[in-house]
Amino acid sequence: MTVNLVQPKLIIHGGAGGHLQSEAGLEAVRTVLHSVVKKVYALLLNGVSAKDAVIEGCQILEDEPLFNAGTGSVLQSDGKIRMSASLMDGTSQRFSGVINISRVKNPIQLAQFLQSQEDRVLSDYGATELIRELSVPVHDPLVDIRLKEWFQQRKEHFQKHMAGVVAEEELAVPHEDRRGTIGVVVLDSQGRLAVGTSTGGKGLERIGRVSDSAMPAGNYATKDAAVSCTGIGEDILDECLAARIVIRVTDGLSLKEAMDKSMKECCLHHRDLGAIALDADGNIAWGKTSEVLLAAYHNGEEIGDTLEWTGDDLIGYQF
Ligand code: GLY
Repeated sequence: MTVNLVQPKLIIHGGAGGHLQSEAGLEAVRTVLHSVVKKVYALLLNGVSAKDAVIEGCQILEDEPLFNAGTGSVLQSDGKIRMSASLMDGTSQRFSGVINISRVKNPIQLAQFLQSQEDRVLSDYGATELIRELSVPVHDPLVDIRLKEWFQQRKEHFQKHMAGVVAEEELAVPHEDRRGTIGVVVLDSQGRLAVGTSTGGKGLERIGRVSDSAMPAGNYATKDAAVSCTGIGEDILDECLAARIVIRVTDGLSLKEAMDKSMKECCLHHRDLGAIALDADGNIAWGKTSEVLLAAYHNGEEIGDTLEWTGDDLIGYQF
C-alpha cells in the first residue's frame, strides 16, 4: 500500500502571450485547463508518480487541438509542423527530449521512452529513426484553423513573428503576436517533482529553428524545484529561465524569491515569456512578462487559474 507522505500539488500551462479578447474563448481555455488539472490531480491522489502524472497531463494537453502542442500545433514557414517536447524527472535529475519531430500524436511519449536511454535528446533525423524503430503510429497533427492561419500569414508575407497561442477562431486577435506551448509541473504524494513541456514551436519560423521547450532553459527539475516555461523561445534561452529559477531555489532562495528575481531580470531585458513552478515543499509560483499566462493549478484544496491576471505584478504564488 502506498502511504501518501505529502499533499500533491500541480500546475499546468497552455501558453502565454497577448490578451484574450473574447470571454467565450477565455471560458473555453478555462474549461479545458481545469478539466486537465482535475484529471491529473485525481491520479496524484491515487499515488501515481510525478513523472507519470506529467506524461499523462502533457498527453491530454497535446491531444487538445486548442493548444500549440501535438494536435493543433502551428505550422512553420514552409507549411510543415515540427514538434518538440521534453521531460525531466527531478528525483533522478534526468532530462530527455525530442526536437523538431513530425507526424506523431504525442511527442512527450518519445521523451518518456528516452528517459531510460543512453542518448536522451534526439532531433529530427534520429528521432524519425526512433519513431520507426518503436513503430509509433503515423498521426497528422494539423487542424484547419492552423492551416488557415498559415495561409493568411502567407498572404501577408509572414509579417507576424509567431502564430496564435490557441487555435480558436473567436480568440484570434488581429495583428497581435501570441505564443503557445503546454507544460505540466507536479509534486507527487511521495514528495517527488517532475516537469514536462511540449510545443509546435513559435509558428512561421525558419526550418531547423530549435525551441526552448526541449532544452533545460524551458523545462528543468531537480529534487528541490521544477519549472516549465512558455513564450518566445529565444527570450527563454537567453535567460536560461527554467534552470535559473530552479538553481536559485537550490542555492537558498524561496521559490517566490527565485521567481520574482528572475522575472524582474526578464522584464529589464524586455523578454516576452511566462513560467510555472513548484518546489519540494509544495509552494506553487508563476510569473510572466507577457500580457497573459494561460495556467491553472491545484493547491491541494482547490483549483485556481491565472487567466484573468493582467495587472502589473510579475509573479503570483500559492503556499
Ligand atoms: N516557447 C516555444 C517556442 O518558442 O518554441
